[in-house]
Amino acid sequence: MKKIINASILNADFSNLKEQIDQAVAAEIDWIHLDIMDGHFVPNISMGPTIAQICRQITTLPMDAHLMISNPNDFIPAFADAGVNLISVHVEADAHIHRTLRNIKDHGCKVGIVLNPGTPASAIESVMDMIDLVLVMSVDPGFGGQKFIANVLPKVEQIRKLIHTQKRDIYLQIDGGIDVDTLPLAIKAGADSFVIGSAIFRNKKGIFEAVHQLKSLMQ
Ligand code: DX5
Ligand code: ZN
Repeated sequence: MKKIINASILNADFSNLKEQIDQAVAAEIDWIHLDIMDGHFVPNISMGPTIAQICRQITTLPMDAHLMISNPNDFIPAFADAGVNLISVHVEADAHIHRTLRNIKDHGCKVGIVLNPGTPASAIESVMDMIDLVLVMSVDPGFGGQKFIANVLPKVEQIRKLIHTQKRDIYLQIDGGIDVDTLPLAIKAGADSFVIGSAIFRNKKGIFEAVHQLKSLMQ
């Protein structure tokens, strides 16, 4: 599948959000990534459906909501209504994951499942037939700008093989600490969708140049 740059706005300048998104879109990012945190599943609070709705008004690009929240099933209608195209939920956050994944699909969104760095690939084997995307966290979720955990790379390779056995297109996304140094490692391990926050929105070279440099590594 085509490789995707998915820009996480978590570390964008929110006083200039429209301008920041417009610049990233002009640099030809592929998707917008929304990091949703509740101060309970992760030790930070970020944004909710209202920000998703605002982003939907700014761009027509695909948007995915990465729910780092307890009881994710309760919030699926709100994010679907806000206009996100794909909703990802953590396998660790939900004791009834099949019901939640079905609910995402029933609300007209594509379905994503997320694994924390410490969660093995086997945790998602039983849901492979229900999903459109697997997200492997390469940092413990909660904050932007953290250091890439290279120990997750063998798991990315393992999941690439799992995807191969499903005869459907499933994105293999990686999220956390991706920059010009770690992107090539993630590509080599088999990821095809790259969530990138700080290396785009906090890059000294500016958003446009940052995206171009990252894209050149994906050729
Ligand atoms: C971490 C989030 C990530 C992260 C990406 O909890 O899921 O999306 O903010 O930001 P960088 O690229 O700065 O690690
Ligand atoms: Zn994320």
